[in-house]
Amino acid sequence: MVPARSQGPVNRCQVSNEARTSASMFAMPAPTPPLRPLSGAEPVTSNTAQQDAAITDRDRLAHSAYADSQHLAARQSLYRWQQPQYDLPGMITAELERVRGTVLDIGCGNGRFVTRLHQQRPDLRVIGTDISAGILADVPRPVAVADAQVLPFSDDSADAALALHMLYHVPDIPVSVAELARVVKSDGLVIASTNGRHDKRELDLLWSRAAADVLGVAEGPSRVSLSARFSLELAPALLGAAFSDVHVIELPGAIETPDPGPVVAHLASYEAWADQLGVPFRPTLVRAEELVTQEIAKHGTFRITCLGGILVCRR
Ligand SMILES: C[S@@+](CC[C@H](N)C(=O)[O-])C[C@H]1O[C@@H](n2cnc3c(N)ncnc32)[C@H](O)[C@@H]1O
Repeated sequence: MVPARSQGPVNRCQVSNEARTSASMFAMPAPTPPLRPLSGAEPVTSNTAQQDAAITDRDRLAHSAYADSQHLAARQSLYRWQQPQYDLPGMITAELERVRGTVLDIGCGNGRFVTRLHQQRPDLRVIGTDISAGILADVPRPVAVADAQVLPFSDDSADAALALHMLYHVPDIPVSVAELARVVKSDGLVIASTNGRHDKRELDLLWSRAAADVLGVAEGPSRVSLSARFSLELAPALLGAAFSDVHVIELPGAIETPDPGPVVAHLASYEAWADQLGVPFRPTLVRAEELVTQEIAKHGTFRITCLGGILVCRR
């Protein structure tokens, strides 16, 4: 377990209610050279209204994107190549050090955090919830199928709640934030996490480049951004509506892999949104694999800059 405070590049910022929207408080990783020379194009991580609707569509989430853990696991496994390594379950466990009683993990996915808490904090009552019954199959019990906008828990019934890399999928984020505040006791803790808006921009660039080649155009369409609606830059203000104290822990880093496999698997994990990409999905993956393979042959690795973050919230 690696406590948050012992990790070198971690940046912690206290965000007041007044100042929490300032993007300048987030130290961005140093820019890396593009995959190959571009005409000034910066990957775009904003979505159309239709793409946002697809990212929050309950049926698509429960029965396709997160019907099981396959796509989520592909995205999680890319972090094996990240430096520095962040033990996120260990960091969350450390943040919960003083918490006793009941912890809810809302949108717990394949149970990475629930499992760690069961192992390291057997004294806690940990309940995993998710909108997808399928992804809960292997999560330690108790679990519940539930929408984060209508939590099946009474007021002040939990001592802490987690909403990790999930609020960007919720149609009404303010309603869900209010639900988190409602179910957690007034002296309790809510911990959210998400990515910065430039996180993994080289993957966005790779996708656009591959899409351009498939379509035979100079600049391909952007892929959808999953976290744009609740990016690390937007999250403090959204959480600040219900919590007076939002503490941001930035997690900058870079993934460098000599293997095209995990990069292509990450791109392939967006299959549930293939109809939102404006380009044939499989041929674009094939072209992306060729481009990454060329890049690795030239430079030895493919490099992806990352910025994730944890937000520790108190009322
Ligand atoms: C990117 S995964 C994150 C999983 C896990 N929290 C983690 O960090 O590893 C997002 C999860 O949120 C779930 N989800 C999406 N919308 C939801 C909603 N409205 N209510 C509850 N869960 C939801 C998805 O089914 C998926 O399992």
